[in-house]
Amino acid sequence: MSVQFHELTVSAVIRETAECSSFELSVPAELHEKYQYKAGQHLTFELPWEDFKITRCYSLSSCADLGEPLKIGVKRVEGGRISNWLNDNLKVGASIMASVPEGRFVLDPETRSSAPLFLFAGGSGVTPIIALLKSALAITKRSVTLLYANQDRDSVIYGDEIDRLAAEHSDRLIVRHHFDAEGGYLSPAEVRALLHDTDTAEFYVCGPEPFMELIESTLAEAGVHEELIYIERFVSPADSDRVEVDAIDVASLEAPETFSLWLDGRSRTVPYVSGKTLLQCAQDAGLQPAHSCESGYCGSCMANVKTGKVHMRTHEALSKRDIARGVALLCQSVPASSEPLELDSDSTSFRTASAVKSSYSKRASQLAAVAAFAFMVAGTLVLRLVH
Ligand SMILES: Cc1cc2nc3c(=O)[nH]c(=O)nc-3n(C[C@H](O)[C@H](O)[C@H](O)COP(=O)(O)OP(=O)(O)OC[C@H]3O[C@@H](n4cnc5c(N)ncnc54)[C@H](O)[C@@H]3O)c2cc1C
Ligand code: FES
Repeated sequence: MSVQFHELTVSAVIRETAECSSFELSVPAELHEKYQYKAGQHLTFELPWEDFKITRCYSLSSCADLGEPLKIGVKRVEGGRISNWLNDNLKVGASIMASVPEGRFVLDPETRSSAPLFLFAGGSGVTPIIALLKSALAITKRSVTLLYANQDRDSVIYGDEIDRLAAEHSDRLIVRHHFDAEGGYLSPAEVRALLHDTDTAEFYVCGPEPFMELIESTLAEAGVHEELIYIERFVSPADSDRVEVDAIDVASLEAPETFSLWLDGRSRTVPYVSGKTLLQCAQDAGLQPAHSCESGYCGSCMANVKTGKVHMRTHEALSKRDIARGVALLCQSVPASSEPLELDSDSTSFRTASAVKSSYSKRASQLAAVAAFAFMVAGTLVLRLVH
C-alpha cells in the first residue's frame, strides 16, 4: 500500500534561527483521528517539483500530550531542494500534502515510568528530540539528560523552550549544550561524563551522521545494549531524477520459496513472490511489519537478517554499521540466494521493552523447542531399551 497524502494548512510560521523555520499545520476536522500522533513521529510531505513530485520527511517537534498543534522544524541544507524551498516559500494559509504521522522513534510505553532517558541531538536533530523531551516530562517521572550539539549559540533551535523546561524540571532534567565554535567537535569523553544507569536507561539519538557515529560508538564502548538505543536518521530519498538504476537484475537472483519473519514475538512463514519486496510479500500474507515511506529512507521497516542473503535496491536509512551487523530494509529487499532466509523484525530500530520481551519469549520458545526435541530423543531411546 503506497503512502496516502492529505491536504493540511499552514497556520503559523516561526523563524527559529537564521537557518531554520517551524511551521504549524492545521488538520481538517474529519482527519483529526488519523493525525493522532506520538512524540518523536514524523510526517512525509509530497511537493511538486518541475515535472515530477518529491517526498521528504519532517519530524514533529510538537507534543500531543500537551495538546500542541502539529509543528515541524525545517533547517536549510546547503544545496538542498525542499528544505530551502520550504524556508523561502511556505507561508501562512498555504496548503501542503502530508502523510499521517508515522515512525518508531517514540517513547516505549512500557518503560515510561522508570528508566532514565538520554536524549542526544545535533542541529536539526532536535526536532523529534524536543518532542520526546516534552512528552517524557509531561507524562512520566523519568530523569532526563539532554545533550544538544550545535555549531554555535546562534544555531540553537528551540533554545527558549529548552531553557524553560530546564527551569521548570530542574529536579530531573539535565541540559548540556555543546558548541563546536567554542572548543571543537563533541568528544567521547563529554558523552561518557554524562552516562549513568547504562544497563537500564534508554538512549535516543538524532543528528548529522558524524555526530550519530560518535554517540553510537561511545555508547557501544560503554557497554550499552543495542536494544536500548533508538536512532533517527535524517536522510532524503533519491528523487526520481536522481535515482540510480539498480545495477543488479533482481529477476535473475535465486530465491527460496518461502522466508521466515519474526514479528511480535512469533515466527511466520511467508511465501516469496518473485519481483515483490519482502515487505509486499509479508503484506500479501496478511502481516503488518512496521513501515512508512516504502522508499528506503525512513528506516521504519528495519529487520535483522538472521540467515540467508538479501539484495537491497537502496538503503539510505541505514548506516555502514547497520549493514555490517545484518540490518535490512524490508521495503527494499528481495532474496539474493536460495538458502533459507530468516529475518527478525522485532529486534531492530523499535527497541521497546515489548521487542526485548519478544526476543526473550523467542529465546524461551527456542529453548522449549530444544527441550521438546531432547525429550523425544530420550523417549525413543527408552523405548528402544525397553524393547
Ligand atoms: C524520518 C525523518 C525525519 C526528518 N526530520 C527532519 C526535521 O525534523 N527537520 C529537518 O530539517 N530535516 C528532517 N529530515 C531531513 C529531511 O527529510 C531532508 O532530508 C532535508 O531537509 C534535506 O532535504 P532537501 O530537499 O533540502 O535536500 P536534498 O535535495 O535532498 O539534498 C540534500 C543534500 O544532498 C545533495 N544531493 C542530493 N542528491 C544529489 C545529487 N544527485 N547530486 C548532487 N547533490 C545531491 C544536495 O546538494 C544537498 O547537499 C528528516 C528525515 C527523515 C528521514
Ligand atoms: S518503509 Fe521507510 S525505509 Fe522501508
